[in-house]
Amino acid sequence: MTRWNNGRDEVEPVSPDITDETNALPARYFTDPAVHEMEKEAVFGRYWVYAGHANCIPEPGDHFTRNIGDREIIVVRTHDGDVEAFYNVCAHRGSAMVEETPMTDPGNANRIQCPYHLWTYDLDGELASTPKSFEDARLNPDLEDEDITPIDPDESALMSVHTDRIGPFVFVNFDEEPMSLAEQAGTMKTELESLPLEEYQLARRIVSEVECNWKVFGGNYSECDHCQANHQDWVKDLELLDSELEVDDYHWILHYKHGEDVDDEMRIHEEHEAKFYYFWPNFTVNMYGTADGYGTYIIDPIDEGRFQLVADYYFKDPDLTEEEETFIRTSRQLQEEDFELVERQQRGLDSGAIAQARLGPNEHTVHRLHRLAQEAYEA
Ligand code: FES
Ligand SMILES: [Fe+2]
Repeated sequence: MTRWNNGRDEVEPVSPDITDETNALPARYFTDPAVHEMEKEAVFGRYWVYAGHANCIPEPGDHFTRNIGDREIIVVRTHDGDVEAFYNVCAHRGSAMVEETPMTDPGNANRIQCPYHLWTYDLDGELASTPKSFEDARLNPDLEDEDITPIDPDESALMSVHTDRIGPFVFVNFDEEPMSLAEQAGTMKTELESLPLEEYQLARRIVSEVECNWKVFGGNYSECDHCQANHQDWVKDLELLDSELEVDDYHWILHYKHGEDVDDEMRIHEEHEAKFYYFWPNFTVNMYGTADGYGTYIIDPIDEGRFQLVADYYFKDPDLTEEEETFIRTSRQLQEEDFELVERQQRGLDSGAIAQARLGPNEHTVHRLHRLAQEAYEA
């Protein structure tokens, strides 16, 4: 049953059993600023989080920045062709170095240079040079030049962040000893790596700020019980009853069958369906059933009541055809319909009336999201 905030009912942790009445994450986890602060470590400091797409930084020195929680990182293509990530923090006195550089407009530099005192780093993070003023002590009467300890380039390297990839998708992890990306991604990794994801280029990015907790949007993405009532244009070509929701350890897959088969040429994958992956905590891969391309969502929290949705669209040719433009417009319409739903749900949660929601049997994907959140909070 639903638990109201009437002062009599006790909220319980999320139950592993979907039929249990305490199966939802207590409502305060969607509204409390302290929870948002806690999640920066418990969730975003611990699991593999999507950073961006390797195709956007093809050449050595290409880089973009990304903020995850309070952390700022630089994701860079190194000279040997790897993709690495570093904190955007200088090893000298801790200045941020690179200004915000989006994936849609990546920077290129031979080296990473801090603008404050010009410490300069190689693309693999090692300190490459410091200005002359770090080798002489002319302003310091207590020190002779020969007493100065030379700076060890290794010890003064940038702080690196664990990176790994699923095909061209670059993930980072801030934990000191993280579980492997392969373990977190499970079958999703092998499934995605069997597809030619590298052959597609970023063609469009749409960024939106939405007034709800990131997990509210995550839950909405994960079920389609709301579709008939709220996405009438979209569902008219779907067989919703034949659709399937598949739950794995840290991801779940939504299979949406099309009423009529579309041309195989129109899809990157083989199934006659749209196939949407939600990857804990805040990334989705959207395999379209009716367009030869794929998309990703990044669901980045801003605070407890707001998140930023970064919707990226990948096609073979970044110059879109009229058909592909129409496809993106339809996708955008879906997003806007969902924004209305999730903002309305947040309003209800913010009112403080509800203490714990009650999930339905077809919301086992939402249940998985809530369980993973609970697990992260308790770890
Ligand atoms: S803080 Fe970066 S060079 Fe001084
Ligand atoms: Fe929706």
